[in-house]
Amino acid sequence: MAELLVAARAGGYAVPSFCAWNAEVMEIVLRVAQDLRSPVIVMNGPGEFSLLVPALMGAVAHTVARGFTVPAALHLDHGDSMEMVQACLEAGYTSVMLDYSNRPFAENAGALRQVVTLAHALGVTVEGELGHVGKVDTVTVEGTGDSTLTEPGEAAAYVEQTGVDALAVSIGNAHGQYTKLPKFDFARLEKIRAAVRLPLVLHGGSGTPPADIQRAIALGMAKVNVATEIVATWRETLYGQWGAKQNLWAPQAMAEAKKALVPVVQKWIRLTGAEGRA
Ligand code: 13P
Repeated sequence: MAELLVAARAGGYAVPSFCAWNAEVMEIVLRVAQDLRSPVIVMNGPGEFSLLVPALMGAVAHTVARGFTVPAALHLDHGDSMEMVQACLEAGYTSVMLDYSNRPFAENAGALRQVVTLAHALGVTVEGELGHVGKVDTVTVEGTGDSTLTEPGEAAAYVEQTGVDALAVSIGNAHGQYTKLPKFDFARLEKIRAAVRLPLVLHGGSGTPPADIQRAIALGMAKVNVATEIVATWRETLYGQWGAKQNLWAPQAMAEAKKALVPVVQKWIRLTGAEGRA
């Protein structure tokens, strides 16, 4: 994943990272990315592992990806334990995040240092989070209720101490369906960018006004995470399908849900400026 992000940061665009929990979602994300010649990241984590454990998730992703040539990474999003990171490394994830953003600085940095040692030995990218990106609704699985903004000085120390490849930052962004529009602290983002010279990650992409996404990318965000828009589109399409015909064959309903994801994935590839970069 680091290769994709370094190129994105240098090129002034971001790589979209989509929540994908099964073969169907992974395949449509990769197919749209290939059609638009866009690098892409497929991600999942604790909120999806109740459906398929990391070993199976990794096996599915690698099998699906064999059908495509577009540059793609498989990322553990918001890993919550060292065991989970290990399981994903064994399952062939090409990037891992251990999210200790709710813990004290020293504990977060110490644990990420360990992840970097393990992951880099395998050529796997590491994402850390400093400051905490919260959530704005109760169904979202990532983050806790409250956010803590990232301090630029601490960010520099964190990157130095851990050796992470990408840093998720908190600048007013949040996971989930925004109930009121976010107000990004761009001055803070500029200071963070000046303090750390590595790709930054924007969590909570869904529902963010396009102009804010573009300005954040211009200020160093090289990866933009999108989950809620994918999950909500899938859910709403299934509601509609089964609402209209209760005994509809499940694969047919799911095929419609898969189709409905196409414009969502296209929108984010275009918005992040990733189209045509692969
Ligand atoms: P959204 O659900 O708000 O798009 O956030 C996704 C995310 O940041 C996953 O880590």
